[in-house]
Amino acid sequence: MKLQAVLFDLDGVITDTAEYHYMAWKQMAEQIGIDIDRAFNEQLKGISRMESLERILVHGRKEQQYTMEQKERLAADKNKHYVSLLTQLAPEHVYPGIHELLDQLAERQIPAVLTSASKNAPQILSSLGLAERFHTIVDPDGIPGKPAPDIFLKGAEAAGADPACCIGIEDAQAGVEAIKAAGMFAVGIGEQELLCASGADIVFDSTAKLNLTSVLQAANLN
Ligand code: BG6
Ligand code: MG
Repeated sequence: MKLQAVLFDLDGVITDTAEYHYMAWKQMAEQIGIDIDRAFNEQLKGISRMESLERILVHGRKEQQYTMEQKERLAADKNKHYVSLLTQLAPEHVYPGIHELLDQLAERQIPAVLTSASKNAPQILSSLGLAERFHTIVDPDGIPGKPAPDIFLKGAEAAGADPACCIGIEDAQAGVEAIKAAGMFAVGIGEQELLCASGADIVFDSTAKLNLTSVLQAANLN
């Protein structure tokens, strides 16, 4: 079968904004007396802004202490801090190997689709100079979040692709689960053990090692 589309997560796959999310959440959590570490942060990757806040509050056993309005304010404050970090973003912050992969896909006329849970995704892509390289940016608003398959299925549909002929690339456990639930081949970027436990079909510790030929071979696609 022929490859029909490649679906990319953004934060932690195309650039290092997963780290900015962590910094912004850590600071917000500290302000309300909750300590989070990198191991806990793995659970926040791929998860929407409000769901992330809920998980942090449960982690700090403070889920009953805030009204909806207060939670919205906390999430807005975190986003304000996060967006201030994004002002540093420039084209040189695209992870190694991403331009090469996008070039290879363009040569083969395979659509690249962005399937990020982030409402800041369009702004990030344009800061990175990548907005024109994607066939579709799926809007995460109003669709069930990862690990539900919806965002990947919507991305495949937008590209006119059969999910069985799609490859998804993710750094998050919830994201890898979503790709598998959508019936696609899952490429993990990060820790082998963690992402394989979520069902990743192949894992690279860095995007620099992403190689379309070996991924296609492993996926049984051409
Ligand atoms: C995902 C990130 O891509 O987007 C999560 O992995 C983040 O950490 C989520 O919470 C939502 O992002 P945003 O920019 O809409 O707050
Ligand atoms: Mg990610």
